[in-house]
Amino acid sequence: MTQPEVAEPIAPPPAHPLAMLRADEIERAVAIVRAERDLPEGARFAYIGLDEPRKDELAAMGDGEFPSRRVRLVIVPGPRALVIEAVVSLDGTVTSWLECPETRPALLFEESMHAIVAVKANPDWQAAMLRRGITDFDKVQVDPWPSGNFGVEHEDDRRISRCIFYYREHKRDNGYARPIEGVIAFVDHGRAEVLEVVDYGVVPVPPERGNYAGDSVGPARTGLKPLAITQPEGPSFTVDGNLVEWQHWSLRVSMDPYEGLVLHTVGYEDGGRVRPILHRAAVSEMVVPYGDPGPMHGWKNAFDSGEWGLGRMANSLTLGCDCVGEIHYFDATFATEGGMPFTLEHAICMHEEDYGILWKHVDMQGGTTEVRRSRRLVVSSIATVGNYEYGFYWYFYLDGSMQLEVKLTGIMSTMALQPGERPINGSIIAPQLGAPYHQHLFNVRLDFDVDGSNNTVYEVDATAGPAGPDNPLGNTIVSTATPLRTELEARRVVDPARSRTWKIVNPEVRNGLGEPVAYKLVPASTPTLLASPESSVGRRAGFATRNLWVTPYDRSEWRAAGDHPNQHSGGAGLPTWTAADRPIVNTDVVVWHTFGVTHIPRPEDWPVMPVEYTGFQLVPVGFFDRNPALDLPPNDHCS
Ligand code: NI
Repeated sequence: MTQPEVAEPIAPPPAHPLAMLRADEIERAVAIVRAERDLPEGARFAYIGLDEPRKDELAAMGDGEFPSRRVRLVIVPGPRALVIEAVVSLDGTVTSWLECPETRPALLFEESMHAIVAVKANPDWQAAMLRRGITDFDKVQVDPWPSGNFGVEHEDDRRISRCIFYYREHKRDNGYARPIEGVIAFVDHGRAEVLEVVDYGVVPVPPERGNYAGDSVGPARTGLKPLAITQPEGPSFTVDGNLVEWQHWSLRVSMDPYEGLVLHTVGYEDGGRVRPILHRAAVSEMVVPYGDPGPMHGWKNAFDSGEWGLGRMANSLTLGCDCVGEIHYFDATFATEGGMPFTLEHAICMHEEDYGILWKHVDMQGGTTEVRRSRRLVVSSIATVGNYEYGFYWYFYLDGSMQLEVKLTGIMSTMALQPGERPINGSIIAPQLGAPYHQHLFNVRLDFDVDGSNNTVYEVDATAGPAGPDNPLGNTIVSTATPLRTELEARRVVDPARSRTWKIVNPEVRNGLGEPVAYKLVPASTPTLLASPESSVGRRAGFATRNLWVTPYDRSEWRAAGDHPNQHSGGAGLPTWTAADRPIVNTDVVVWHTFGVTHIPRPEDWPVMPVEYTGFQLVPVGFFDRNPALDLPPNDHCS
């Protein structure tokens, strides 16, 4: 095998150590790996992303003097359950090379395509289709699913999927309206080999095609007049590379193949300097466990970040459709599984939205009215993972608060029902069509730096005061802030009845009132994992058993279920790290928040789901001395 030449050094160098990875950097990283290591001919690149500089490297960096950029690669050398984790310095060397046995990357796209072809050519599968009267195999949609970890023999040292099937009368039919119930094919992805076709028995294919495009649903409603959003002077933000500045806020944006949208160095300009709030924020993992006990659906536990990738599945967004107004798009550069760079255009959308009123008061005595409009900066991306769409929307407000809203839409995972059958752990959503109850649980990794690296997290509850001489009228309200001192103490769940929040405090920086500055995490009324902790998904998605975890910063702790959750036996990530019970007081803390929804499907969720919302807020608490949005100018005619 001839060694490829290592490309010339990158020129010009990236503008910032946290700038998004470029095509020439991907090419050079792959060339360095190929030159230094003897990769097999068929080796694939499951992941190529920026190996972000550590915090101490960033802090040590002088003006314009950057550490050499590094690229992180996950290489799949062959068909077995083996990956190589490599880090390459773009100055020309492989700095880290780790062979990881019993490890699977996210499912590879090329292998998934090969799996589909192999299934359709398999005589056992064809016989199962013929038993259902399906003779035109071109009308069968094959969905490879991550198979989980259930002690099935096929799992041993293989990278496998379970393929499930849907009938499409027409190419443009809803792919999920007519599940072909009862058939599962186990496929070895590394070898494109069908291992087994299981047939649990015939259930008739549901009758309705469930189409939702305009030409399938009858006449469109009328009466909606144009609603135009115009900013005749342009947007209020500025963009320099991936650096965004807007109304005192500053941040950098990027996109990771697995995590999707990432925010870096979020700060707020106050008194002539940028005060840091978050060093980094990204969805570190998510899981969609299904609650039906049967053999067709009970194993479905999609880790859509680590088993597919929220950046790999990101949409290219369209003006006037996905976001409306004066839009700035960021492209993302990823690598193919062959190691070639490609650009996903319009991967991230950014714009401003009017958001009603921010503050108002009518002074009856003085006869004055003061009102100010709220608006927010929106940074968003949307991933399509099989049947579901996930929209990730970071909002920045004029009063120093932030929010992550996740929008869930797309099509539910479905099951065919016998005529007259009612599912016990699911809903009937169309004739002979059901959808199992399930959860969507996200974990966001929030690397806080509230006015500096060293922070302490407090749990803040609001409760009724105890009866006694201090409470003669029985009306007192007590706010209790309890420091979370170690990792085990910081495994927490939400408590809406106590208005529970978690406050990230810098004990060494005081506001004008003498109190330590802080931001609080305001959770939604959100569930935790309903599956048993001893179940397969209970072991693998340990992060979802608590709504809050806090760890001391460690560059190796990045993803809540570990770096390679696909087919993992469980325990990795937050449960393992926090078992060390490290101290977390006045240190560089990372806050991990699990949030989401338990989805009890409705008929109205069919055939395509209206958006369901989940998320959380980050709100300043004594970070400022007073309402930081007093300086908003009034609209001309409003005061
Ligand atoms: Ni759902």
